[in-house]
Order: sequence, then structure tokens, then C-alpha cells
Amino acid sequence: MKFFAVIGDPIEHSLSPLLHNWVFNQLEIDAHYSKIKVPESELNTYIEKIRKGELAGINVTIPHKTKIMKFVDDVNSRAEIIGAINLVMLTNGKIIGNNTDWYGFVMALKNHKIDVTQKEVILIGAGGVSKGIIFALKQQGAAKIHLFNRTFEKISQFCDEIIHPHKMSELEKFILTDSIIINCTSVGMNTSDSLIDAGLLCKRQTVIDTIYTPLKTELILDAESIGARTMTGLDMFIHQALASQELWLGEAISNRVNFDDLKQYIESNLC
Ligand code: ATR
Repeated sequence: MKFFAVIGDPIEHSLSPLLHNWVFNQLEIDAHYSKIKVPESELNTYIEKIRKGELAGINVTIPHKTKIMKFVDDVNSRAEIIGAINLVMLTNGKIIGNNTDWYGFVMALKNHKIDVTQKEVILIGAGGVSKGIIFALKQQGAAKIHLFNRTFEKISQFCDEIIHPHKMSELEKFILTDSIIINCTSVGMNTSDSLIDAGLLCKRQTVIDTIYTPLKTELILDAESIGARTMTGLDMFIHQALASQELWLGEAISNRVNFDDLKQYIESNLC
């Protein structure tokens, strides 16, 4: 049997074991996936577990997606550009870090028929998740990314021809009646907090949350109630997980999984 895990701190919120074990079960793959709370000081221990074959692969979540990069032997070229990894595996004797978050986000946009080509996007957050999403938005041809973060110092160096960093206090000024707004912070995870005042939301906007616990965050509920187009973090979560399995197992898993059945299964565990 192959053993996989997601490591993070906190980790209680993670539905990754539920998802991966459902897929293993459906496809009769002899593998098991667990969640492990790992502090930063123990990251290297888990890299060594992969090297020794005790773990066949890991996903990495909050808050380690960037910090773990220094412990791997090599990083996939896209993940290198992104500057964050959410997956680690052993390939030809080397510990490789990779990123499937960006791909999960692109697939989720496709599912929801959200086109960001030549559009301006408002993105809040500058952690591991937002790095993958910035890569995906650029790859999908977004014209401008207005980037906001509580700690401005973290994003002041992000500036390029696409990314425009702003102070959080300026967010309100940038929200237009037809904005595409993406929450990449952890605000709203298992709380009813939202960084965006409901009064700023309108019908013609597209509001995206990367959080899936709860399935509908306060931000998504506010946007839904005003009639805006919304996308929760669930599709991205499922697609990044299936892409992780494809890399670990070297098989085209996605084609063999019924996406709607899997989504329904996860949703039923969220309600
Ligand atoms: P992830 O891997 O999910 O991106 P992370 O790297 O820990 O997790 O990043 C969390 C993001 O949520 C950061 O942008 C963080 O802002 P700071 O850079 O200022 O820490 C943001 N965040 C977390 N709690 C927040 C809060 N209460 N208000 C605003 N932003 C918050």
C-alpha cells in the first residue's frame, strides 16, 4: 500500500483525506491518504520520509507552501516561477516540489465559464495560494491584477507590468460594479468574517473565494444574495487534488473519476 498525506498547521479543516481516499476507493488503488499537523520545525522530517519511501508523496498547505521549498532537491519550473509548492514527490531519486494549485484554479474557471482574458482582477492575499492564482491569471491572459494584502510589505516587491500592489485601505476605491474579485486570504475559513463590505458588492461582479470550508463563505453568501456570479474554492480544491494524484501515480486519474459524483460527495461532507 502507498501512503500519502497533507501536511499543514492548522490541518483540522482539510478535506484532502476525504477526497483522495474516495478516489483511491473508486479506482481500487491500493493507497491511503491522511492529514498531519506539522510545525515548520519538522518540515524536513517529512521530506526525509518521502526519501525513505515511508510516504509516496505529500500535499503541503497553510502556512508551509513557500517555507518547504528550501528542503526539496529541485522545484518544477512552473512552481519555481510561482514561488510556492503544494506537492512533493520522489522522482528519479530526487525530492521534487511542484504546484497544482494554479492548474486547479484554471480548471475551476473553465468549469464556471469565467473568462479573465484582457480583464482587470482584484486579488486579496499574498500567501502560498495567491501565488499560484497570480500565475494562473497571467497564464489566462489577465490584463491587470490589483493586488491587496494586510501586510503591504509582502506585496510591495510583486510589482510588474501585470501586478499592481495596493494598500488594503485602498481596496474600496478599486471595487467597481463589474469587478472580478478573488479572496486568497484565509479570512472566512470557518468563520463568518469577510474582508469585503457587502455594500460594495453588485450584480455584475464575479466573486471568487479560494476557501471551501465552509463551502459558502460570508463573502460568497453576500455576493450570491446580491445576484453576483460566484465561485467557491471547491472546484479548485478538487482539480488540484486530481492533478496531484496524476503526478504521484503517473496515471490519467481525472478521466476515470466522475467529477460531479466526487463534488457531490465532498459537498455532502461540508453541509
Ligand atoms: P495560504 O497558503 O492559504 O496562502 P498563507 O501563506 O498563510 O496561507 O497566507 C494567508 C493570507 O491570508 C495572507 O495574505 C495573510 O495576510 P498577511 O500577509 O498580512 O499575513 C492573509 N490573512 C490572514 N488573516 C488575515 C486577516 N485577519 N486579515 C487580512 N488578511 C489576512
